[in-house]
Amino acid sequence: MDNYHEQFRPQFHFSPKEKWMNDPNGLVYNDGIYHLFYQYHPEDTVWGPMHWGHAISEDLITWKHKPIAIFPDELGDIFSGSIVLDITNSSGLGSEDNPPLVAIFTYHLIEGEKGGRTYHQTQGIAFSLDNGDTWIKYDANPVLKNADIKDFRDPKVFWYDETKQWIMILVAGDHTKFYKSDNLKNWTYLSDFGKEVGAHGGVWECPDLFKLKVKDTGEEKWILLISINPGAPNGGSGTQYFIGNFDGKRFVADHDDIKWIDVGADNYAGVTYNNTPNEKRIFIGWMSNWYYGQKTPTKNWRGSMTLPRELSLIVEDGVYFLESKVIDSFNNQLSNVFEEKCINLENPFNLKHQNFNQTEIKFITNLSKGIQLEFKNGKDEYLLFYIDPSKKEMSLDRRKSGLVGFENRFADSLHTFPYKVLDKEVDIRIIVDWSSIELFIDNGKYVMTEQIFPTVFYNILQISSVDSISIKNFKLNSVKSIWKEQTKKLIKN
Ligand code: FRU
Repeated sequence: MDNYHEQFRPQFHFSPKEKWMNDPNGLVYNDGIYHLFYQYHPEDTVWGPMHWGHAISEDLITWKHKPIAIFPDELGDIFSGSIVLDITNSSGLGSEDNPPLVAIFTYHLIEGEKGGRTYHQTQGIAFSLDNGDTWIKYDANPVLKNADIKDFRDPKVFWYDETKQWIMILVAGDHTKFYKSDNLKNWTYLSDFGKEVGAHGGVWECPDLFKLKVKDTGEEKWILLISINPGAPNGGSGTQYFIGNFDGKRFVADHDDIKWIDVGADNYAGVTYNNTPNEKRIFIGWMSNWYYGQKTPTKNWRGSMTLPRELSLIVEDGVYFLESKVIDSFNNQLSNVFEEKCINLENPFNLKHQNFNQTEIKFITNLSKGIQLEFKNGKDEYLLFYIDPSKKEMSLDRRKSGLVGFENRFADSLHTFPYKVLDKEVDIRIIVDWSSIELFIDNGKYVMTEQIFPTVFYNILQISSVDSISIKNFKLNSVKSIWKEQTKKLIKN
């Protein structure tokens, strides 16, 4: 029975009740509610004709499932996109008293052509007058036709206050295109970005563009997120970002180097919320990878989301980068199990706990010293994370972490990423759910998100250091399941 405790079911990450899920879509806040729509195939646990599934939350941590929001029609299946609150009713689809939520998505139409099968992508809109419960398709869709481009999708729309216009950014294979509109129905082409810059190991997908103030200086910059598949640093799908400027027409990047929002293998197609209170930039990604996402060993559902993360823009020695921090409301799920001011690692430190697959671990260490963490169970399965200053590298090793053989590329290599070795004390935050680990190092400057499938819970954590260092402010917290209410209800029925 589906009771949210099936093997591998994330206990505090969003996953659909059943069947297949990929990208987050239409992330929007309205009237006290955070909406999470998502790419959904209600018929199977692998990808198929896409619908928009739907869930809502007040705190972005505990979710309530809603009925499927948007269904395929004769123009095609419903691929990824975004939602805006049309507060002035510029679209005329609602009224000034009841401004509509407008969803802008890609229609994906499979066509038989000369014996083969090709696809065709256009952009359509739908609106809701009851805060996302029911959706009506606009009767003159598509609002943006395809100019003979194969991959032409994933529109992200936002309000650009300086020119009082809607801006749409979408991907077209190896670059992005920008459009503007006064009413969300008629779109005018503005510019292209990206052919010659950034990572190009695969097709560009799921763009996002937003402004952030640099922490401490207040300077404003524009951030462009681009998911790319394949071509990520640890194989398959990943999300790069650019920092630069947008003038209402054109985006220009400030740098030539390639930046990744997360260097783990399982954070893809992530975008941020429109219309959040306090202008917070909250990001959610699909916690999987197209290399093996359709083969992971879950049974009646497949796919989960990362924890929501607030993004901030930092400058250090003239270099700009994003920091990701799990949103504060996550802390309400925590209760302390163990803490220690100082742990001396002259000898390995062993901590037992019945279930590390529902915990948060935090401590302070120095980036110039080596340290290793190993989660284990009694089945010879282990998950390793280590910081190696001699190689200027951090690594996550899931090659023996549990079930790994469902697809070769899940565990064919050690996952590493370079870091800047500094004599600096930093915080390490590790969040482990039944089938994932999220690592946030130095305030979320380095982030790594990966799936794991241990056949039984990890129950030992061993921490060791070749440099015999001490770590400070160690905390082990257990994380409450977000599905308690659902489980209770299901058991009653
Ligand atoms: C990214 C993606 C999008 C597309 C959707 C289809 O994972 O390929 O580009 O809109 O998934 O489900």
